[in-house]
Amino acid sequence: MAEKKKLSTAEILAMARGKAAEASAAKPAGESPSPESAAPASELPAASAEPDSAAAVEKKPAPKPAAKGGARPSVAEMMAMARAQGGAKSAAPAEKPPTEKKPVEKPAAKPAAVKPAAEKSAPAKSGGPKDTASILAAARGAKPGPMTKAEAAAAATSPPAKPKAVAPPMPTKPDYAKPSPKPVAKAVSADESRRGFLHVMLGSFLGIGMTSLASVSALWTLGFARFMFPNILTEPPSRFKAGPKEGFSPGTVEEKFKAQYGVWVVNGDYNGQQQIYALKTVCTHLGCTPNWLEAEQKFKCPCHGSGFYKDGINFEGPAPRPLERYAIRIADDGQVEIDRSRTFQEELGQWADPASFIPATA
Ligand code: FES
Repeated sequence: MAEKKKLSTAEILAMARGKAAEASAAKPAGESPSPESAAPASELPAASAEPDSAAAVEKKPAPKPAAKGGARPSVAEMMAMARAQGGAKSAAPAEKPPTEKKPVEKPAAKPAAVKPAAEKSAPAKSGGPKDTASILAAARGAKPGPMTKAEAAAAATSPPAKPKAVAPPMPTKPDYAKPSPKPVAKAVSADESRRGFLHVMLGSFLGIGMTSLASVSALWTLGFARFMFPNILTEPPSRFKAGPKEGFSPGTVEEKFKAQYGVWVVNGDYNGQQQIYALKTVCTHLGCTPNWLEAEQKFKCPCHGSGFYKDGINFEGPAPRPLERYAIRIADDGQVEIDRSRTFQEELGQWADPASFIPATA
């Protein structure tokens, strides 16, 4: 029965602590042992009674820390001491006092109750390699018996092999489930349609903008070119020849120069003298062009009704003064020449100037 029982880690540690306390109590002679270290000292004779176990304890490096004056041993030292103690106990289990119970070993009874069955069934006989890894591996159930260090390391590092999952093959699709080829043209997605719309709109806006810019630039160019040319009025020359003097019979008003030159050539009477003179076809009221009325023998303005006699004197309407005369003379070639650059006004007495008329009788 004693051979089947295997010490738990708690028991081993408890025993190791008791051993260490005993060693520390035995070394210093002058020091008084504490009550805690006195109790496990009773166990020492049982252990020292066995010569084999004592030798095993001496071989281990565990007593080293105990010789340092009562310092607490490390776990490794405790394990070594416990193994030595366990081997001694397994060799002589009958010598252990059954009634002797240490207060330190009491808490160790609890974890011993939950020890797995596999650990209990492990052979407790000494002789094989029993290290911490093999003890723990045996406790976990990796291997029922004692393990070597290599086996324990391999068991600790290698994960349990998992069965490889093999997926079953997919069933073949029936014909109705297969996608049929679409003869329809490529459908345009909403994103592509939106992008195309934006491209068209941006292109249109850009085209409109560029066209407008080109048009405005062309207009500005034309305006600048027109600005570079001066405004020229195609006016008739100020002097023109109206023909021979004999072409103007007495008492007649010639209107053929009215449209082009704005001149009436009149062969009439002024202050009892027959003269040929050139009247300006501009009303002295507001500048309208009067008409010659042959039946009434007068010039009549259509704007406000001013009337002028054949010699140009105003007699009706709002016109404030007579019509004006242009300069007239007989040119070197014998023709009547009219100069529109000079005017003569009757109210100023300028009609007496010989440049303003040609004597018809001369
Ligand atoms: Fe000739 Fe007023 S413009 S009458």
